[in-house]
Amino acid sequence: MSDPSVSITPRHIGIIMDGNGRWATMRKMRRTRGHREGIEAAKRVVLEGIRQGVEFLSLYAFSTENWRRAEEEVSFIMGLVARNLRDQYDFYRDNNVRVTHSGNLDGLPDEVRQEITTVTRETADNDAITVNLAVNYGGRDEIVRAVNRWIEGRTADHLPQIREADLHAHLDLPQMPDPDLVIRTGGEKRISNFLLWECAYAELYFSPRLWPEWTGDDLREAITDFSHRKRNFGGMR
Ligand code: IPE
Ligand code: IPE
Ligand code: MG
Repeated sequence: MSDPSVSITPRHIGIIMDGNGRWATMRKMRRTRGHREGIEAAKRVVLEGIRQGVEFLSLYAFSTENWRRAEEEVSFIMGLVARNLRDQYDFYRDNNVRVTHSGNLDGLPDEVRQEITTVTRETADNDAITVNLAVNYGGRDEIVRAVNRWIEGRTADHLPQIREADLHAHLDLPQMPDPDLVIRTGGEKRISNFLLWECAYAELYFSPRLWPEWTGDDLREAITDFSHRKRNFGGMR
């Protein structure tokens, strides 16, 4: 039997891609330019993920709280997401990338919702890596939606108590393994509502480097750090 405490390459890495705005502001550019550069960083990291044999890479692109930003920045990010989902088809095909989505499709502009639906369908058979885009994603929102899906179709007088397995089965992507490693770039040391349920036993890695500066080397460093961790899952050493 395999020993879960022996960690090598993480199967699933989550990344809180933070620091786009600061990267641009430091260069006297508009924050939106940082988001554009962030896409290039994401492509570099996806390619390195494939080289390293990572199976799932969850990228936090827009949180349920990011709607609080200036209207101009929000609509720029939405346009960027829609355009890139469309424009990166060659990248997904050439690199055999499957794209999935975590988050609330309701509340996203129609164009973004349509592009997400199309790209997830068109790339469903690709199997070099699964890139899971967290767009309009909040961990609390996902848990609430999961509970509501579970309740749906049941009558109030036949409501058993919900179990962990029931909630798990109604998450956005129940087939996806929990993240082994969660990385946050940009220096902040917080989770900001990312994969709250799934993060229960994730190893955390905080990098001061701003997301647009990230390269494959940064991902390799994070994986090496992870490979030296001893995971207990509540058991004994
Ligand atoms: C992360 O970069 C990207 C999104 C939240 C969309 P930020 O835009 O938060 O960059 P900073 O933290 O302001 O530098
Ligand atoms: C987290 O970054 C969300 C994403 C990277 C999409 P934020 O910049 O929104 O997080 P806070 O507000 O600093 O916690
Ligand atoms: Mg930020």
